[in-house]
Amino acid sequence: MTRDDLFNINAGIVKGLIEVAAEVAPKAFILVISNPVNSTVPISAEVLKSKGVFNAQRLFGVTTLDIVRAETFVAEIVGKANPQELTVPVIGGHSGETIVPLFSKVTPSVTIPDDKYDALVNRVQFGGDEVVKAKDGAGSATLSMAYAGYRFAEKLLKAAAGAKGLVEPSYVYLPGVPGGKEIAEKTGVDFFSVPIELGPNGAEKAIDILGDITEKEKALLAAAVSGLKGNISKGVTFAHNPPQK
Ligand SMILES: NC(=O)c1ccc[n+]([C@@H]2O[C@H](COP(=O)([O-])OP(=O)(O)OC[C@H]3O[C@@H](n4cnc5c(N)ncnc54)[C@H](O)[C@@H]3O)[C@@H](O)[C@H]2O)c1
Repeated sequence: MTRDDLFNINAGIVKGLIEVAAEVAPKAFILVISNPVNSTVPISAEVLKSKGVFNAQRLFGVTTLDIVRAETFVAEIVGKANPQELTVPVIGGHSGETIVPLFSKVTPSVTIPDDKYDALVNRVQFGGDEVVKAKDGAGSATLSMAYAGYRFAEKLLKAAAGAKGLVEPSYVYLPGVPGGKEIAEKTGVDFFSVPIELGPNGAEKAIDILGDITEKEKALLAAAVSGLKGNISKGVTFAHNPPQK
């Protein structure tokens, strides 16, 4: 099976599910974890738009697994026993080079040795491949994906119930989220993951953390944006012209 076959299968499933959700639960928070997230979220947005019920504050691409991996790998390097003591922003998209870890923005701050930087970025971007190899053809990440889905869903539920100060990066339609339009103008893409302040309306605010990122991070961002443009237009095209069965 080729990547395109995989895309068509998952894209078709997501499109069908969102068509039903748009009818029966038009105000639901929709968390899309099915890959390729970079394209399945634009597909979802297009379907919701075509049904007249799109609200960007309620549609989330779940990229938390990239953050979980980044926090785990950084903790290993800086010698922290518990990765949850670190907050590592990971922005952009959710595959390969579209994943942009911002190690200059880790809290509490950390120093990544120069000789470890490239390998660390690569491991965050392609950690999923390590799992596929380790399972030797028997599947991809499942337990870590379940944890990531749980972590994001729990945060959103708590925020929806009124808990304050809950922030998690998510892949959203930026122009439809307060604070997002300016970030979309800066990056040149409308669908993009940045830290999102969560609340009763869902995505209450997109937080711009692109200011004073390092030169290396700027280069990662440029590669991510270029990859994302293709992924987004592939999703939008699919939503309007799905292949005939
Ligand atoms: N975002 C992430 O971090 C992340 C990480 C890993 C995997 N994933 C994605 O998560 C998805 C699930 O992965 P998995 O490893 O659990 O796959 P899986 O094949 O083990 O499970 C898929 C499930 O979907 C069901 N299904 C198939 N067609 C359906 C349909 N039309 N309607 C409803 N259900 C249907 C199948 O019966 C099966 O139970 C995939 O799209 C994968 O790419 C995302």
